[in-house]
Amino acid sequence: MMLKTIILVGGPMKGTRFRPLSLETPKPLFPVAGFPIIHHHVEACAQVEGMKEVILIGFYQPNDALNRFITQAQQQFKIQIRYLQEYTALGTAGGIYHFRDQILAGNPDYFFLMNADVCGDFPLKEMLQFHMKKPASTYCTILGTEATRQQSLTYGCIVESKDTHEVMHYVEKPETFISTTINCGIYLCSPTLFGPLEVEFKKNLEQNYNYDEQGFGCDYNTAPAKEVIRMEQDIFVPLASTGKLYVYHTDRFWSQIKSAGAAIYANRHYLDLYQKSHPERLAKNSVGKPQIRGDVFIHPSAQVHETAVLGPNATIGKNCVVGEGVRVRDSVILEGAVLQDHCCVLDSIIGWNSQIGVWTRIEGTPNDPNPNKPFAKIETTQTFTNDGKLNPSITVIGSDVQVPSEVIILNSIVLPNKELSGCYKNQIIL
Ligand code: GTP
Repeated sequence: MMLKTIILVGGPMKGTRFRPLSLETPKPLFPVAGFPIIHHHVEACAQVEGMKEVILIGFYQPNDALNRFITQAQQQFKIQIRYLQEYTALGTAGGIYHFRDQILAGNPDYFFLMNADVCGDFPLKEMLQFHMKKPASTYCTILGTEATRQQSLTYGCIVESKDTHEVMHYVEKPETFISTTINCGIYLCSPTLFGPLEVEFKKNLEQNYNYDEQGFGCDYNTAPAKEVIRMEQDIFVPLASTGKLYVYHTDRFWSQIKSAGAAIYANRHYLDLYQKSHPERLAKNSVGKPQIRGDVFIHPSAQVHETAVLGPNATIGKNCVVGEGVRVRDSVILEGAVLQDHCCVLDSIIGWNSQIGVWTRIEGTPNDPNPNKPFAKIETTQTFTNDGKLNPSITVIGSDVQVPSEVIILNSIVLPNKELSGCYKNQIIL
């Protein structure tokens, strides 16, 4: 069997809810539990037997961070990885159609298609077994999971035939309730999916080949739009009830990563997965080492004082310095950040190379909708309430920010390169 994986990484105009963290690094490369988000995708697909190649499709200009990721992941997973750049945002299926020859080169039997902005314990082998038992004419299996009625409205919703798991009805972000089974943004596709993609592409081409009133040629202003294909609305909606589209259910950990708050959530669950998959990555208690509570990842190059208390759910990045008596819980400390003595960081993200002063407290409010239910999905929280106030959120300190000693920063978002001078609560500091 020959398999490939396509990861849709989006581009610079995507990931806006992830700002200011996505100002510094493409969101798919943001580190969660010590590794870039899409490192977890590549790791999952590299474990499927027969996986020959991973293709990243996006509209970022090729950049150093992406190149470094590719080189490192190729070496680690011994798999070919390439980046193919769309000339503009072509939608969640337009890029796949555009690069169809590259995807089909070598005649893969199937290919996984993964959105970069999700995290989870992806059941790829199980999806493959499920897909292979379906009729040979099947185009695609969607990974689905259960959400609450309220949550389902912000996702793609699936109504299925209970016996066969065929998708009977698909609605993307419905206005009223349709189903609690939602699309996880992970698919297994047969090469025959390029049939309906071609039909949709040609239909778009016809519809957009507009003659203006004088009858002069096509409207080149709308030219890029004709190549945009949206997998969910343009392909899944018409394929429902045709016997070509199925849903495979998972109750394992899964979430979208849209907001910075979701990165803390993803961090907790990937650290939890390490207990089984990579126990060596989790910090352990020992004499002369910081006190570890629950799941904690510390990059080997970080210097952490033995009196610090870390966890649960804490990640300390590359070259970070953590001083005496520091407390970190439910937080991600990014590369090069310095936490000076006795500071306290709770439910927060500290940006690259930022400095937190002595005895300072950085605190956020978790937006985990249901902390007692470990696999609850993240609710897409709005930045502002309807009356214009900032919704309580985790605190995000952008990169290269200086936070002075003995201040409190609560539920705030600080943009990069700031030098703060006092305490802040519920503010966006521009
Ligand atoms: P939002 O709630 O608006 O974010 O919609 P969504 O959750 O349905 O996500 P969306 O369809 O925008 O993106 C799903 C995934 O596809 C993300 O990983 C995006 O980065 C990626 N993506 C979206 N549009 C494009 C595109 O035009 N080209 C590529 N290559 N990737 C894309």
